[in-house]
Amino acid sequence: MPNATAVINLDIEGPTISRHLYGHFAEHLGRCVYGGFWVGEDSPIPNEGGIRLDVVEALRALDIPNLRWPGGCFADEYHWKDGIGPREQRPRMVNTHWGNVEENNHFGTHEFMALCELLGAEAYISGNVGSGTVQEMSEWVEYLTRDGDSPMVRLRKANGREEPWRVKFWGIGNETWGCGGNMRAEYSADLARQYATYCRDHGDNKLYRIASGASDDDYKWTETLMQQISCFGCEATPKNFFQGLSVHHYTVVGPWEAKGSATDFDTADYYRTMAAARRIDRILSGHSTVMDIYDPGRTVGLVLDEWGTWWDVEPGTNPGFLFQQNTLRDALVASTHFDIFHKHAARLYMANIAQTVNVLQAMILTDGDALVLTPTYHVFEMNKGHQDATSLAVHLNAAAAVRQVGDTEVDTLSVSASVKDGLVLVSLSNLDADEPAEVTLDLRGGTLGTPVARLLTADKLQAHNTPQDLTAVAPRPFDGLSATDRGLTLTLPPHSFLTLQAPLV
Ligand code: AHR
Repeated sequence: MPNATAVINLDIEGPTISRHLYGHFAEHLGRCVYGGFWVGEDSPIPNEGGIRLDVVEALRALDIPNLRWPGGCFADEYHWKDGIGPREQRPRMVNTHWGNVEENNHFGTHEFMALCELLGAEAYISGNVGSGTVQEMSEWVEYLTRDGDSPMVRLRKANGREEPWRVKFWGIGNETWGCGGNMRAEYSADLARQYATYCRDHGDNKLYRIASGASDDDYKWTETLMQQISCFGCEATPKNFFQGLSVHHYTVVGPWEAKGSATDFDTADYYRTMAAARRIDRILSGHSTVMDIYDPGRTVGLVLDEWGTWWDVEPGTNPGFLFQQNTLRDALVASTHFDIFHKHAARLYMANIAQTVNVLQAMILTDGDALVLTPTYHVFEMNKGHQDATSLAVHLNAAAAVRQVGDTEVDTLSVSASVKDGLVLVSLSNLDADEPAEVTLDLRGGTLGTPVARLLTADKLQAHNTPQDLTAVAPRPFDGLSATDRGLTLTLPPHSFLTLQAPLV
């Protein structure tokens, strides 16, 4: 059994872990919005104004900080004025990206803002650059956020909303290198500046504008955008056109045509997945390094507004709906990502898992009135204490905790720690499929009170939750901690995720 030591310096504070690293994403794709969040007011499923209350209740337990909408690729063919006013009169369209199904626009701006209010989450609206206009985007900002009297304010009031909403996060296009217009970086950078100019701050509503950024390790894209963040020489005090720059990266194993099943995989597939998951570290480092050159003061945030596992769709489901099951393997991909996110907290400001309900690496799967919390959901819940916490320096000495995957070595232990309001939270993952790991937490610079630990694991990697077995993978109390003169020791079971919380005394 590998022995490892994690030195945790309780008195060496790192950057704040933005709560927005625990952000979410809801696209008009498959059953994410329709059937997932939205069932309509006439549904027998309990709802408030058409929004599913069981989904809201489950997500409220995660303290979700923000929700990105309406896409994804859908955002660049979405025209917001089709989604306001009396529902029966709203124009319909074809969702050409996702399943070629008809979109009735019943879930629009007012419904989305109501959902954010129910969730207690900030809205992140992704505006249409690919097939929209500057005027259309500018008017959407005005409709949502302006007070007083103006054409868009009168339209909003006519649709029943007197007060402006507060909207902070505003996406300027999505994947402009691909589904959002197949642009070159240079052109996309020019459009980002142009659109950002007309996305005004109305009153005291200050927008955080997020330019459409790179795919995976396309550092050249990031460099081209970063060269255009501000208009040096235009003004005495240059200000950034955009405050955030996005990047998308999915954990995909194998070619797109055969990504593999979400549930039917072997140990070799599992390790390939863990190797793929760990790549996010290098990708975030690469983009951060480029950003540091143009923005050493870190005034622009890196926004990983799409991440997660992407498997073949469940057999028998619409290939355009991207519906996949979610196993313990997905949970360990998530826990590893979060440790890496915490490490990059100085530059990484936001991350949005794709997607929240019924699509890709979801928190929740619904089937009619049934609702299943996935293993990934539990990682978000167990880790929520890291939101807006101060990261703590962790040094892991785990030379033996390594597996060979092809010609790559994959570290099988992952750790991060933070402190908030005097409470320390340590997250630990053992990615080894078969071997437990004995871990010593060498606590320096402080003393911890009585710890409370929870463990997420299952008998096999493929374990997942279903309406028939809702808790096949669910956190359980863990009583295997022992105090030593250096701190704490524990044996972490194979393929497991553990959180430990304790007050600083
Ligand atoms: O999340 C699914 C899709 O993946 C999004 O619509 C798109 O932005 C990305 O390619």
